[in-house]
Amino acid sequence: MLTDIFGNDVSLETTAAVESWNKMQLGFLAHAAITPTHLMDVIEREPQFAAAQALKGLFYLMLGRKELRQTSVEANAAAQAAMKQAMPTARERAFVDALGMWLSGNPRAARDRIEEVLVFAPMDSLAMKISQAISFILGDANTMRGSIENVIDTYDAQHAGRGYLLGCYAFALEETGEYRRAEKTGREGMLLAPDDAWGLHAVAHVYEMTANSKGGLDWLSSRESAWEHCNNFRYHVWWHKALMHLDEGQIDVVMDLYDNEIRKDKTDDYRDISNATSLLSRLELEGVDVGNRWEELADLSENRTEDGCLIFADLHYMLALVGGDREDAVKTMMSRMHKDAKMCKSDIQKAMAEPGIAAATGLEAFGESDYKTAFVNLSQARRNMQDAGGSHAQRDVFERLTIDAGIRSGFLNEAEAILNERKAKRNGAEDTYASVRFEMIAAGRGDGNLSLQMPAE
Ligand SMILES: [Fe+2]
Repeated sequence: MLTDIFGNDVSLETTAAVESWNKMQLGFLAHAAITPTHLMDVIEREPQFAAAQALKGLFYLMLGRKELRQTSVEANAAAQAAMKQAMPTARERAFVDALGMWLSGNPRAARDRIEEVLVFAPMDSLAMKISQAISFILGDANTMRGSIENVIDTYDAQHAGRGYLLGCYAFALEETGEYRRAEKTGREGMLLAPDDAWGLHAVAHVYEMTANSKGGLDWLSSRESAWEHCNNFRYHVWWHKALMHLDEGQIDVVMDLYDNEIRKDKTDDYRDISNATSLLSRLELEGVDVGNRWEELADLSENRTEDGCLIFADLHYMLALVGGDREDAVKTMMSRMHKDAKMCKSDIQKAMAEPGIAAATGLEAFGESDYKTAFVNLSQARRNMQDAGGSHAQRDVFERLTIDAGIRSGFLNEAEAILNERKAKRNGAEDTYASVRFEMIAAGRGDGNLSLQMPAE
């Protein structure tokens, strides 16, 4: 039997197909734009290889788009048919099972099925990365970290996936608050896998969470080669850089990055929309006039109100609709979310119910300048916001909106408590956002001679 680059037996019949499969795996680990090309090459060469069909289905589900679900359903059918024609290995069967579980509305079960592979094939970097990707979507940082810690000792220095594994470990460490180890691990991983945009970005997250924007800019500058080969993940890395410039008060640079990198492609991919909407929201909270930039995002988001694939995506579409004053679309989105939340069967529907409904209600109220309602609902959502998925840095936009809603509606003590929790999560580091809000709260209470300067609405 042939083996792949990580030493796994593969039921492919030709070395040419294995070569493409290896390129696909390394591409997926590096978030490379060329990954689907390699995958399609495997499928064209050996359509009976069920794992490739399953991967195709999983990749489409990761895009979080309702209209692509059918493609995943078809990939699942192709994978099932392929399994009857050939003799898949146990790990290949697990990939197919995982696709079926996710299609049934249970990404958590799918992730757990992939974790079973890592018990008997701990050096399978593909299974490792799929597990990380699904846990990220679920906002499950503890499982991300545990998954890596279960296998890391089996990776020796020669393992082709070791650098990427360290990149994933760096991110999981950062998301669980171990910033120093995260940075060290991420830097070590980059030496082994210089194209690992995820590991590079894990270190950027450390700088973000330790309020060290200068260090972050230093880290990202002149390392563009690590992310320019990426799929739209490269826009996310630019977004991180923009956050650091924002913290430095360099608004012109932020706008330039927004127009020329972050929104270079005007897609409605939810990851791209989330980068854009959360940056515009942050800018507006600082009183910056973002011009007509909401219009384009709102136009695209109006077509996504029936999606319901991921609460993380829906909340960012909601930001765009609120930002662009699309009242009808906001109502449509709210009504659909309520329907999903009421069903409350799948992992996704449960997240719609909690924290989704309260978060969306808060965002809608914020858009209507009803800051009291916004604060009450966003505070309620905040308790389970991790279940919306994504990273601390991404969810921070909701944290900022909550705090600002609290300050604007006079809940100064409550807003200050959230600011303090936010600061504690950053090991006591205070970014510019926090410093300004602490000053606003002091001014609001009449402490000292500070005047209460509210950001422009
Ligand atoms: Fe990130």
